[in-house]
Amino acid sequence: MIDTITILGGQGRADIPEAVRRIDLRMGDVVSIVGPTGSGKTTLINDIELFAQGDTPTGRTILVDGVTPPAAYREDPAHNPIALITQHTNFLSDLPVDVFLRTHAGIRASDPLHVADLVGETLDFANQLTGEPIDRASRMTELSGGQTRALLIADATVICDTPIVLLDEVENAGINRARALELLRQRRKIFVFVTHDPRIALLSDFRIVMRNGGITQVIRTESAERAFGVTVARLDDLLCRLRETIRLGGQLTEEDFKGAGLAGFAGEGIL
Ligand SMILES: Nc1ncnc2c1ncn2[C@@H]1O[C@H](COP(=O)(O)OP(=O)(O)OP(=O)(O)O)[C@@H](O)[C@H]1O
Ligand SMILES: [Mg+2]
Repeated sequence: MIDTITILGGQGRADIPEAVRRIDLRMGDVVSIVGPTGSGKTTLINDIELFAQGDTPTGRTILVDGVTPPAAYREDPAHNPIALITQHTNFLSDLPVDVFLRTHAGIRASDPLHVADLVGETLDFANQLTGEPIDRASRMTELSGGQTRALLIADATVICDTPIVLLDEVENAGINRARALELLRQRRKIFVFVTHDPRIALLSDFRIVMRNGGITQVIRTESAERAFGVTVARLDDLLCRLRETIRLGGQLTEEDFKGAGLAGFAGEGIL
């Protein structure tokens, strides 16, 4: 059972040593990685996934429970405690969703009776993250971007059930991030999320700030910032509803802004 993952700093681009020399990620932590495009967020995620030992361009070292991780973590996919969902996800397999999930569950689960439960649970999990329910008979290659990411997150969480999940996010990936966090929090994992979504940032225990390839800062979400959480959630829910209305070909009216505590602003052109 893993308790802590440690990132020991290396260098950013132009070989400048990273300002932050050590970060400990503890079981149950939810962590965001933030920073401009090209600042090194994906590279950091990859270092974690590779269990870098000073042997990647960043010179970072990853420890597990304070020591060098066993070679099996790197060499044997069945022993790797990390699931990585990358920025660009395309399925190469055109199997129907349920065949893919059953095959995967069959490899991971020792009890065949358990396989059907795992498949059902995975689809249920995925469908809580996407606005467009996944039909288990549809082919993997036919899924939308949002459905694909939702299915991968669910697969990593329920079937792989690795203690560490890394999610390299694209903006507007079409998944319900707040719901994803809520479900992941129930499972006690280390969850690392590349995102600039303020709602997720405020729900995270801390965020890692990247610039020019290096880690420049770690910001803990303190109570002052956390207190904005309710307002941010309300704004986010409102925007989600507006997006859904537009998506379905509807038109916005004053009504849409009622109950958001913002109705007065609509006529003043602020919204
Ligand atoms: N510490 C480093 N040393 C050397 N090169 C680095 C370092 N960190 C990142 N790079 C390089 O910089 C480039 C951009 O990094 P990366 O793709 O990780 O950025 P990103 O923050 O994920 O960008 P985006 O927001 O567009 O996804 C890559 O080519 C990567 O190899
Ligand atoms: Mg990236």
